[in-house]
Amino acid sequence: MRVTVSVIKADVGSVAGHHRPHAEMLSYAVRKIEEAEKSGLILSGYVTHAGDDIVLVMTHTRGVNDPEVHGLAWSTFREITEKVAKPLKLYGAGQDLLSDAFSGNIRGLGPGVAELEFEERPSEPIVVFAADKTEPGAWNVPLYRMFASPDNTAGLVIDPKLHTGFKFEVLDLIESESVILKAPEELYDLVGLLGTPGRYAVSMVYRAIDDEPAAAASTTRLSLIAGRYVGKDDPVLAVRAQAGFPAVGEILSAFAIPPVVSGWMRGSHRGPLMPVSFRKGHNVVTFFDGPPRVIAMGWQISNGRLVGVDRKEPADLFDDPFFDYSRRVAAEMAVYLRTMGEFEPARLGHEEMEYTTLPQILERLKPRFRKLEEAASHRG
Ligand code: 13P
Ligand code: 13P
Ligand code: MG
Ligand code: MG
Repeated sequence: MRVTVSVIKADVGSVAGHHRPHAEMLSYAVRKIEEAEKSGLILSGYVTHAGDDIVLVMTHTRGVNDPEVHGLAWSTFREITEKVAKPLKLYGAGQDLLSDAFSGNIRGLGPGVAELEFEERPSEPIVVFAADKTEPGAWNVPLYRMFASPDNTAGLVIDPKLHTGFKFEVLDLIESESVILKAPEELYDLVGLLGTPGRYAVSMVYRAIDDEPAAAASTTRLSLIAGRYVGKDDPVLAVRAQAGFPAVGEILSAFAIPPVVSGWMRGSHRGPLMPVSFRKGHNVVTFFDGPPRVIAMGWQISNGRLVGVDRKEPADLFDDPFFDYSRRVAAEMAVYLRTMGEFEPARLGHEEMEYTTLPQILERLKPRFRKLEEAASHRG
């Protein structure tokens, strides 16, 4: 059967600053999802959070960009904002809902969307990642490692289905354009673009041999929609695994050495992406509102439904003592980067600070700047 996996997320308010959603927000979302399962709109759904972002994972047969499925996510986030977050005066209530103009597609309105439509295989493992305090370009290094680097993914060398490589759809988030690049043939061009994660981000990955969709990522840049800083985008990513795709272990190993990503405090700093367990409640940020972190949920899709380790409960894939090593490295990177204070590269570059109050500082100082010759004559 043809199945669609829709992962839609939004930050619509949180407790203790940008820490985590209130339990009532999550139970409200669970009720909405259960109603949609009963009505038959979706086959199955799961609600979780990554830091202060609520994540809805839904399976159905309606294809990508379905107005009803997007509408369900939109009304869920709207109602949670109005009925829970605002009455409780939670922090940043409705933060990611940048426009009220919902007309059938949630893309471009603030929430992040990653959707995959495919013919369900005899066995269909899937991994869904959700990150807090970072931007869509945070997936660039992990996706490059998973689908283009034989140093990470042995299957690129060993498995004939992977050996022909993968196609990356890369978005230029500034110009709103996209290009498809094929690895390994165009690997250096691909890395050339992905090396600028604030501008170029991967939206889809396809298996080259048959154009099967392999991964989908959300690419919302809130600041570009709003024209000002409103919080970080906090992206989601869905990846198909095994039997013609990277193995789950290859997909996870792409996160073993934490990449440095943009986000963290006030969305204006670089920090390590720390892989954490959600079941242990480690999917919340503290130190300098971070460091940025990522959770990994593993399921089988069976007859269009999410099958976890216990009913719909996903496998908590970063809950492995091995990843204590990654977390230790991330903590050391985080402390080290903070020794830099407000100096680049710990603070984001000039261009990416455009949406913060930095331009106002420059504006205020403008009258005091002197051309160098003039300054010299002033000094005598
Ligand atoms: P199994 O033989 O346990 O299925 O493992 C195959 C594999 O792909 C391991 O990564
Ligand atoms: P969020 O994007 O997760 O809401 O965080 C915003 C922020 O400013 C953290 O310091
Ligand atoms: Mg927030
Ligand atoms: Mg967040």
